[in-house]
Amino acid sequence: MNHGYAQDAEHGKTIFKACAACHATDHANRVGPGLGGIIGRKAGAVPGFRYSNAMKTFGMVWDAKILDAYLASPQKVVPGNRMPYAGLKNATDRADLVAYLATLK
Ligand code: HEC
Repeated sequence: MNHGYAQDAEHGKTIFKACAACHATDHANRVGPGLGGIIGRKAGAVPGFRYSNAMKTFGMVWDAKILDAYLASPQKVVPGNRMPYAGLKNATDRADLVAYLATLK
């Protein structure tokens, strides 16, 4: 268990349950695109997934910082994107979630 300030990917995995309804942890597309290899991947770039124009033209490569901002407030960071998720307000939970996302290959 990790009780310090370090990010806790194990905790992040439990938070990911809120995402798992739409996202696979590998490269399979469901309601949302597969999140395998999300860190370092260009936004809106999974072949065969029908992204919104907003996501297709976002133009950023997902890193921990941009993911954190996006998950805090998806519509603020990518206005007009079609992900039906209001945002995760707790910064510690978000950091843990992003740490977990970084383990997905
Ligand atoms: C109800 C379904 C749903 C939920 C819940 C959901 N997403 Fe999404 N997500 C989507 C859809 C749909 C898109 C594509 C949005 C677009 O094209 O505008 C998306 C896009 C994304 C992207 C961009 C992927 C890329 O290839 O550029 C990331 C990252 C992401 N979601 C992470 C998450 C995380 C982490 C959670 C949990 C906190 C989550 N999502 C919850 C449906 C969902």
